[in-house]
Amino acid sequence: MSVIIDGKKLAKEIRENLKIKCEELKERGIEPKLAVILVGNDKPSQIYVKNKSKACEEIGIKFEEYLLDENITQKELINLIEKLNKDNTIHGILLQSPIPEQLDINEAFRKILPEKDVDGFNPVNVGKLVLNQDTFVSCTPYGIMKMFEAYNIDLTGKNVTIIGRSNIVGKPLIQCCLNKNATVTICHSKTKELKEHTKKADILIVAIGKSKFITEDMVKKDAIVIDVGINRDENGKLTGDVDFENVEKKASFITPVPGGVGPMTIAMLMNNVLKATKNLEIND
Ligand code: GUN
Repeated sequence: MSVIIDGKKLAKEIRENLKIKCEELKERGIEPKLAVILVGNDKPSQIYVKNKSKACEEIGIKFEEYLLDENITQKELINLIEKLNKDNTIHGILLQSPIPEQLDINEAFRKILPEKDVDGFNPVNVGKLVLNQDTFVSCTPYGIMKMFEAYNIDLTGKNVTIIGRSNIVGKPLIQCCLNKNATVTICHSKTKELKEHTKKADILIVAIGKSKFITEDMVKKDAIVIDVGINRDENGKLTGDVDFENVEKKASFITPVPGGVGPMTIAMLMNNVLKATKNLEIND
């Protein structure tokens, strides 16, 4: 039996601390504000944005939502980002991905000022992460690192295998783990002999979006297993990328879905908004 890493509880503690910090800022006349841009009608994105708005409300961060039509042009999107960049009352800007195919998301992320880039997707912030400099770290990887910290999991010298090479999760995770002195392997859809890589992992992090893809036979005994997936199984039940029921018997630590990585992502976004507020407004 493994220790279940309780992301829900940890995220709640983080949000409670952030609420106090937010009140302190307000006492000094500073009102943290996040602007979120949502383009089109992607249902999961609408739910994610709603959850972000709820978290802002709970902490006391002002939330401004920009809902754009799916047929918007690139120029209109960039114009909005530039307007938000110039608005001194806005501390953080988040462009929810995915966006419709006719739009260039890389250009859009590049246009968000690095100081307001609370997602850590601007190439300047990605570069700073690579160089292990203070920056905004992408919220899911950041949340996972906070979980390791909270459960006293030291990455030094550990074999970490990451499955999934997305710009949002897999790639920034490589740097986060490397910065903590882990030996990192990254696997993806073209990886051969995946099981060889997963079996040698002291820490296995899975972010591929395939329900119950990681089975017990793919995991080393006493491994630490972090599940980033959010899927629905054949019965419509929320599941991760890991076959939790069976892997849990073999792992030393494991994150559940729901209640694992998901709540941490939002908590770290809130953290980044307050960090952006402080960077811009406080000189002490
Ligand atoms: N889409 C899925 N996850 C994320 C995220 O963390 N940030 C943004 N902007 N879009 C996402």
